[in-house]
Amino acid sequence: MTLVNDQTHGPSRPKRLIAADHPNLPPRATTTDMGALFAQREADRYAMHSRHLNEQLVRVLRTIGYDVGFCRGQGQYLYDRQGARYLDLLSGFGVFALGRNHPAIRAALKSVLDSELPNLVQMDVSTLAGILAERLVALAPYLDKVCFTNSGAEAVEAAVKFSRAATGRSGIVSCEHAFHGLSYGALSLSDDAMFRSRFEPLLPDCVRIPFNDLGALEKALHGRTIAAFIVEPIQGKGVNLPSADYLKGAAELCRRHGTLFVADEIQTGLGRTGRFLAVEHWNVEPDMVLLAKALSGGHVPVGAVLTRKHVFDKVFDRMERAFVHGSTFGKNDLAMAAGIATLDVLAADGLIDKAARSGERLLQAFTAMAERYELVHETRGKGLMIGVQFGSPCSFKLKASWNLLEAASKGLFCQLITIPLFKEHRILTQVAGHASHTIKLLPSLTISEADCDWIIKAFEAVIGASHRVPGSVWSLGKSLMAHSMRA
Ligand SMILES: Cc1ncc(COP(=O)(O)O)c(C=O)c1O
Repeated sequence: MTLVNDQTHGPSRPKRLIAADHPNLPPRATTTDMGALFAQREADRYAMHSRHLNEQLVRVLRTIGYDVGFCRGQGQYLYDRQGARYLDLLSGFGVFALGRNHPAIRAALKSVLDSELPNLVQMDVSTLAGILAERLVALAPYLDKVCFTNSGAEAVEAAVKFSRAATGRSGIVSCEHAFHGLSYGALSLSDDAMFRSRFEPLLPDCVRIPFNDLGALEKALHGRTIAAFIVEPIQGKGVNLPSADYLKGAAELCRRHGTLFVADEIQTGLGRTGRFLAVEHWNVEPDMVLLAKALSGGHVPVGAVLTRKHVFDKVFDRMERAFVHGSTFGKNDLAMAAGIATLDVLAADGLIDKAARSGERLLQAFTAMAERYELVHETRGKGLMIGVQFGSPCSFKLKASWNLLEAASKGLFCQLITIPLFKEHRILTQVAGHASHTIKLLPSLTISEADCDWIIKAFEAVIGASHRVPGSVWSLGKSLMAHSMRA
């Protein structure tokens, strides 16, 4: 190990460690083989995270037994240390629409690295960004302009700023149960006390109204102070679908009151629901569409705000305002290449139609389960965004166990389904929000018929077992309750 004087700060400063001389790194070597580095250190991942990152996440994983140490991802599958294969219905919160490590995305990214492109010149414009923007607006031809971002939340931030600039108004309306991200503006539009508490005060002039309530929207817009109404066509938290006339009616109300209609398609976009955009199911043409997640091809963070020209022109209206919104890494070549290749793969592999077909099959199977199992209250979804909602049973024995669990921690029941799905059936899935009774399926659009069989068989087995009291599922409930009490 070498200690040197930090010359930039003068001799009185403490001596600093040179990274290359750290005892855990080979001396003066450059690490280029990340696979080898991963293999060398993966067993330390939970310890490293406990020490240097989010310790509470490690505690959660250990408590529910998800600390299996995934070592490989391919398509819709993950592989643990023992090489066991898992079906991933979480897909990185919707990032892996094409599956993990799609060969076309990898090839596109490698080609960027091999091409020595003039990335991020800043005092030039990016060719790849021009191509991706051209292709995106061709898929939503009522929109003209694109602003690229580095994440979904950043796309939401841009939409808020653009709406205010375009209308000269400050108000933003969003919906109850909405999720738009965790940066300050996006969080101000999201409705979850757990996410918001300790971070307030948030952005002023943000109003929340019930989802699917046109009367409430009209009331909110009436004073003509609202710049934008931002809505997820299908809400991710809870997988809540709009009623048949809601989005069309909302777009019409916005138009009448001079408010911009913004569709947050960060989760629902790019084929997830069986259409390129979810709004297409209801024939709606928003003033702005927000994309992110799947546009990354699962590799490079990227977001996009697609908007009408008149909105953009209010933001960038003269040369001295050419840089009023943007970010250093927006439009970087790797992100643009990932986006271009993602659109190509969606089309070439017919993934949007495939998502519609697989989703239809799964929804039918879950609907049949809802008829047979009293704990399953409702199933809903479009394409491969599906919610299975559980609720209070009728029979006395089950009801007593359900009530006990609910009293200990609202929404805990879903863990009695997701944990056995993971431990016994190697299916990774999620609960659709804090204290939610809905399990969400958000798999890669690439899932096969055999994967659908796997899902149906596994859910059938675990849901069936949850209807037996006493039984293994409710024993798990007891141990989770004990954890919850201790917490
Ligand atoms: C609908 C929606 N909007 C915005 C976001 C925020 O995106 P990001 O996590 O990339 O900031 C998410 C993320 O889950 C989302 O589902």
